[in-house]
Amino acid sequence: MQKITIAIDGYSSTGKSTIAKELARALGYIYVDTGAMYRAVTLHAMRKGYVGGHTEHLDALVKSLPGIELNFVYNTELGFAEMYLNDENVEGEIRTLDVSRQVSKVATIKEVRIKLVDMQKGMGKEKGIVMDGRDIGTVVFPEAELKIFMTASPEARATRRYKELLDKGEKLSYADVLKNVQDRDYIDSHREFSPLKKAEDAIEFDNSDMGLKEQFERIHGYALRVIEKQ
Ligand code: DC
Repeated sequence: MQKITIAIDGYSSTGKSTIAKELARALGYIYVDTGAMYRAVTLHAMRKGYVGGHTEHLDALVKSLPGIELNFVYNTELGFAEMYLNDENVEGEIRTLDVSRQVSKVATIKEVRIKLVDMQKGMGKEKGIVMDGRDIGTVVFPEAELKIFMTASPEARATRRYKELLDKGEKLSYADVLKNVQDRDYIDSHREFSPLKKAEDAIEFDNSDMGLKEQFERIHGYALRVIEKQ
């Protein structure tokens, strides 16, 4: 059966990654979490002091980009690929609220986007891929056969994210998490280069009141219908 490209975009903490990962597993496709790539560049920028301090050095960050190597390495025990920054596994560190606070800013930088979009296009050359992010259906794979645009209320998203971070042992308040979700929505959808927006041919999918099982079944159904028609 012919393989397709599936683009899953949407606001932060809408559960895109969870669904995309499960969908890829069910279809035997590759899964790529592009947010992890922006997060890894952000972690690099924070470690070097380019962002997150009193002053920002975005030009220096841009200059350092050719020296950054990003790789996804499949972890057979966990059943998914983890993010590596210059051969170091950074999967845990990139998910902290500290990185979340800086990542939207780093993702506004044109040169960062050019580098990562180029890598993402390369990963999808053979199709058979589920990629999630903010600009997958609009910029990375405008020709994707299936595009989903996930939404949920900021409160529903903050509640999920708050629980996730507490489970990981981060000490923070719900108000901080809600503010981060709202700030990222604003920056992600107002930036100059590839702002977050629904592709015209994407299916809008609001999961505020939907459990994971129902979400998966519906989206898996969309995918099977498109694949059958190929
Ligand atoms: O999906 P996430 O929350 O892990 O993404 C982290 C940030 O990266 C998000 O605030 C916006 C940015 N991002 C982006 O600009 N384009 C993408 N394709 C993926 C993520």
